[in-house]
Amino acid sequence: MPRITIHRKAHFNAAHRLFNPKWSDEKNVEVFGKCSNPHYHGHNYELIVSLTGEIDPETGYVYDLGKLKDLIKIHVEDSFDHKNLNIEVEEFKNLNPSVENIAVVIYDKLRVKIEKKYDLEITLYETPRNYVTYSG
Ligand code: NI
Repeated sequence: MPRITIHRKAHFNAAHRLFNPKWSDEKNVEVFGKCSNPHYHGHNYELIVSLTGEIDPETGYVYDLGKLKDLIKIHVEDSFDHKNLNIEVEEFKNLNPSVENIAVVIYDKLRVKIEKKYDLEITLYETPRNYVTYSG
C-alpha cells in the first residue's frame, strides 16, 4: 500500500522567558534579547502534527484524525494552553522553553502514544515566520 502523510493542525497560547540560569542577566539579554524579559511574554503557537504510514485497505485511512485530534488535545493543548511554560509546565522546569525544545517535548509526549509503524513529525510555529520541524 502507498505510504502517505496526514497532518493535523492545532494551536495554543503560552507565555515563556528564554533564560539560562548559569549566565548573568547581562549575558541573558545579550543572547536572548527581548525573549529574556523577566516578566515573560506570550506567543500564539501553531502546531502541525504529521503522521506517515500505509493506507489501511479496510478504512482508507492512515490514522483516525479524530483520534489524533484527541491525543493533541489531551497531551499538548491541555498541558500548554494559556500556561506560563517556565513556571507551570513540568518539562520546562529545567529546560529553556525555546521553540526547538517545545517541539522536542511535544514529539516525546506524542511518540509514546502512537504506534511505531507511523513516522511522526512535529512542526511548530512560534511566529508566522519562525518555525521548527522535528522528527526524532
Ligand atoms: Ni519568545
